[in-house]
Amino acid sequence: MSIVVTGATGHLGRHVVQQLLEKVPAEQVTAVVRDEAKAADLAARGVRLAVADYNAPETFEGLFAAGDKVLLISGNEFDKGRVRQHTVVIDAAKAAGVALLAYTSAPGGLTAALADDHRATEEVLLASGLPYSLLRNGWYHENYTENLAPVLEHGAVVQAAGDGRVSSAARADYAAAAVAVLTGEGHENTTYELGGDEAWGFAEYAAELSRRTGREIAYTPVSGEALTGILTGAGLPGPLAAILAGVDASIEKGELVITSGDLARLTGRPATPLAEAITAALKG
Ligand SMILES: NC(=O)c1ccc[n+]([C@@H]2O[C@H](COP(=O)([O-])OP(=O)(O)OC[C@H]3O[C@@H](n4cnc5c(N)ncnc54)[C@H](OP(=O)(O)O)[C@@H]3O)[C@@H](O)[C@H]2O)c1
Repeated sequence: MSIVVTGATGHLGRHVVQQLLEKVPAEQVTAVVRDEAKAADLAARGVRLAVADYNAPETFEGLFAAGDKVLLISGNEFDKGRVRQHTVVIDAAKAAGVALLAYTSAPGGLTAALADDHRATEEVLLASGLPYSLLRNGWYHENYTENLAPVLEHGAVVQAAGDGRVSSAARADYAAAAVAVLTGEGHENTTYELGGDEAWGFAEYAAELSRRTGREIAYTPVSGEALTGILTGAGLPGPLAAILAGVDASIEKGELVITSGDLARLTGRPATPLAEAITAALKG
């Protein structure tokens, strides 16, 4: 029996493996990676590596064993059909008879186009009959704090979210929730709505940045169309820019405010405050 983590060399996957190693012996952890070289540090710690690609079903044949607990981390290749990719993993897990398949999904109330692949993957997973856990991750702090360069350059937080609020949390928090599900008992056929403990708005975010940097940083709300133009102007592909503007529209409607308390309950501690993530980002 192994705990198997796909996307293990991604940002979230690395947090998950790191935190798993604090709880279970390394030989019980399998990291599914596309590029073995990228995972050399994990192998050095005794983690078993399995090389597989969501686009190549044959690479998942025989990868899982009966009784495994699997974390399927959603892919990031928006143009390659993520539902088909995720289905490859679910089919292989079903064939092996894994004990649990946990999937990093999106909040149940999110209507933005970004959520479409997640809703469809959830349907595939439920139809498979596998014991499942839907980890409906809210937004990451890092979506903002890792993209501070243009904000600091222009002294402006430019978003199309009006006065909307978002209950973001750190990737490490969502990883801790996943680890709790993978190492704990009784998580079969569960759905968790995961988010930070406090929702915040972009004016507050700009004020916090001003305090931390000693500079005047203001929130400039723009329309979705304007934001799409700004993002494509900065080099983002049009479809991705439109997806991000769609997320802002959802934030304005309150769809990324999570009040379930599931994250703190699963991890047994408060989520990382936004201010802490800002401090870490400004130091880095
Ligand atoms: N909640 C949020 O705010 C938020 C924000 C952004 C993304 N997400 C979603 O959450 C996921 C995890 O977040 P993250 O920050 O860890 O993203 P990330 O760093 O981009 O990681 C994505 C992972 O998926 C793997 N992957 C992509 N395509 C694959 C394929 N064809 N076959 C096998 N593996 C593949 C990548 O492998 P490599 O390491 O080989 O590249 C990587 O490990 C993202 O992929 C996305 O679906 C959520």
